[in-house]
Amino acid sequence: MRNEAAYIYQRLASRIESQILDGVYRTGDKLPSIRTLCSSESVSHASVMHALELLEMKGFVEARPKSGYYVKSISPLSGVSDRPTRRSGFAPLSIDVSDVIESVFQRVNRPDVVNFGFALPHPSLTPYEKLSKAVASASRNDPELFGRYPQCSGIPELKRQLAVRLSLSGCHVDPEELIVTVGATEAMNLALQVVAKPGDTVVVESPCYFGILEMLERLSLRALPIPSSSEHGLNIEMLAQALDVHSVKAVVLTPSFSNPNGSCMRDDRRKSLLQLLDDHGVSLIEDDVYGDLYFGKTRPRPIKAYDQEGTVLYCSSFSKSIAPGMRVGWLAPGGHFEKANKIKRTQTIGTPPIIQYGLAQFLASSSIERHFRSLRKQLKQQVESIHHAVLSAFPEGTSVSKPQGGFVIWIELPETVNALELHRRALANGISVIPGSMFAIGGTQENRIRISCGNPFGQRSRDAIRTLGSLVRELSVEALSAVPLRKRARN
Ligand SMILES: Cc1ncc(COP(=O)(O)O)c(C=O)c1O
Repeated sequence: MRNEAAYIYQRLASRIESQILDGVYRTGDKLPSIRTLCSSESVSHASVMHALELLEMKGFVEARPKSGYYVKSISPLSGVSDRPTRRSGFAPLSIDVSDVIESVFQRVNRPDVVNFGFALPHPSLTPYEKLSKAVASASRNDPELFGRYPQCSGIPELKRQLAVRLSLSGCHVDPEELIVTVGATEAMNLALQVVAKPGDTVVVESPCYFGILEMLERLSLRALPIPSSSEHGLNIEMLAQALDVHSVKAVVLTPSFSNPNGSCMRDDRRKSLLQLLDDHGVSLIEDDVYGDLYFGKTRPRPIKAYDQEGTVLYCSSFSKSIAPGMRVGWLAPGGHFEKANKIKRTQTIGTPPIIQYGLAQFLASSSIERHFRSLRKQLKQQVESIHHAVLSAFPEGTSVSKPQGGFVIWIELPETVNALELHRRALANGISVIPGSMFAIGGTQENRIRISCGNPFGQRSRDAIRTLGSLVRELSVEALSAVPLRKRARN
């Protein structure tokens, strides 16, 4: 019964949404009244109200007191098709984000822009000479690598090196329990398929890396977003409340230098989270791609290091710390090795072995620690320079995260500023930034942007940050001058 009702209002909302996108209703148009919609659609008052609230949350329309619902001027990004219930405060949502993400990326992927968009270290920070030598020597030493299928879970040399690196972070994993994957993306996809089936609910941080939302969408999983802050990361207290109400299969979390808000969970909170999940029998899919990029004295310890029960499926890669183009990641799937390995075999048979050998050789060399040290130093400088530049260029009312690792900065703009519009105007000025709504479902994070600090900071970046600051000011002023108009319309 509940599902049927949900279906009706979602269908109505999505039809009105298409009409807005197709230009049937234009900016400023008043939508038909609630009574008219009830009778023309033969649906209840509650269904119409839910549909309109959903459209409002997604940014398509705005409610004007005593007047009705009007089409807004900004096209929204978020493609959510449900909303949190008032009763519990949280509800699982189905996801429809991939088209939006693709369209933003097509726009930011232009060579002529100052790139604050892609979360990648600049290619000059990749040890490409050493890597290419290692890969060339692997293929020279064993040309038969070209003519064989690899071992599905990965070559033993690389798995041993990965186990060594994991133990340096406090995680002791048998190399035989590891699966080498094509990036963390494949590791997380495998982990999700192991613990959940279509229709199941998975908790995500809000905001979270949009790739996670795309994975959930593709696997037909429902997302339960739980707020995360730059200071503390995932709100465990809210998660505990949600777990009392909803049946959840897994939590997907980036506890160390999360993308986009840069949060790094304290150790005591990591332990409390694990205890909570153990108590509820919920798996944790830990994404640790930024863990090696800490600015302080010690590397944050992965939650996997505290795991006694096989609760944590640990995923990582070298995309952020060595070379994204190698596409090498790994999964430590806890008690789920057989199932994960079987899915890996059916999906890709194995990860390209020549790359695995080359990487194993690089990891075994004395260059590796030097590489990590210099990368961390460089990224820290870039993050600090951009942080400083934003503080001096953006208007009052802006908050800027100060991450202690990784290389993305999360900026909360004055409340009236729409980040999607800022993203558009910035692109028109040759600057790419990612709007906050790409990192969330449910129409939140709309006055936030993510800035990647992967590129060296110079005069061009400084000027671009100044331009962004001016655009934010411009948008604030426009929003303020729009207020009297709205007031007039109400009377
Ligand atoms: C938090 C997070 N996890 C995973 C990935 C994807 O990793 P990979 O390139 O290894 O597939 C990204 C890429 O931006 C990310 O930010």
